[in-house]
Amino acid sequence: MLQSAPALEIRELTKRYDDGTLALEDTDLTVPDGAFFGLLGPNGAGKTTLINAVCNLIRVTSGEVLVFGEPADTLAARRSVGLAEQDINLDRFLTVEETLVYHGGYFGMAGDEARARAADMIETFDLRAKADVRTPKLSGGMRRRLLLARALMHRPRLVILDEPTAGVDFELRQELWTYIRRLHEEGTTILLTTHYLEEAETLCEEIALIRDGELIARDTAEGLRERYGGNTLADVYVKAMGMPVP
Ligand SMILES: Nc1ncnc2c1ncn2[C@@H]1O[C@H](COP(=O)(O)OP(=O)(O)OP(=O)(O)O)[C@@H](O)[C@H]1O
Ligand SMILES: [Mg+2]
Repeated sequence: MLQSAPALEIRELTKRYDDGTLALEDTDLTVPDGAFFGLLGPNGAGKTTLINAVCNLIRVTSGEVLVFGEPADTLAARRSVGLAEQDINLDRFLTVEETLVYHGGYFGMAGDEARARAADMIETFDLRAKADVRTPKLSGGMRRRLLLARALMHRPRLVILDEPTAGVDFELRQELWTYIRRLHEEGTTILLTTHYLEEAETLCEEIALIRDGELIARDTAEGLRERYGGNTLADVYVKAMGMPVP
């Protein structure tokens, strides 16, 4: 049988923003199909830049990004990725249901199909009571859930979650973990960024550490603990990022 293309293949990716900021330099990263992959690093390390390159939201300076073997700027690549952005960017004039249906339309779903899928997502993410409410009237946690529901609308094979649990309470975090785990069990590839190290340790099969636009390590949590001689992922993080030991 033909081996499937990796979900993500990044080769020598460099991104320099117009103001001169070098956000990524010669980054290589391969994420296998079906993986649950974590990307960890401090504020400004380049995580969102990398994600934006994968989702074709920025022009890269040099390098190559392939999604399931297709260049990131192709329709095929864009259709196979679902992104829940770090910034909650919901259209304030749309209701919950419209948000989902329009997104489906944007990805080429027919009206009936998009409405049926939206109804499913509203059910899954427990948004039934708010289906006809405009997004500014949602609580923060509901917005996070809608963001995730929207990312999943077109059944992407690769789901990218950029700090999905930032500012989320304990209960919703557990719920989001359950949803994300289920997705992964169904075969979806997950790329997750988070500042909650225990979240990465609990969920991710493999973790890459990024610092100042450079990928400095990539391994299982256990492998990282061994390599850096730490008892916890927090020990690893402190050492890898060159932070003063607390
Ligand atoms: N549009 C932009 N123009 C100029 N510089 C940018 C732009 N977007 C990001 N940067 C810079 O690129 C670097 C990497 O930013 P990025 O958002 O990728 O970091 P991050 O790892 O996602 O951080 P965080 O954990 O805070 O979300 C930072 O120095 C940031 O200021
Ligand atoms: Mg970010």
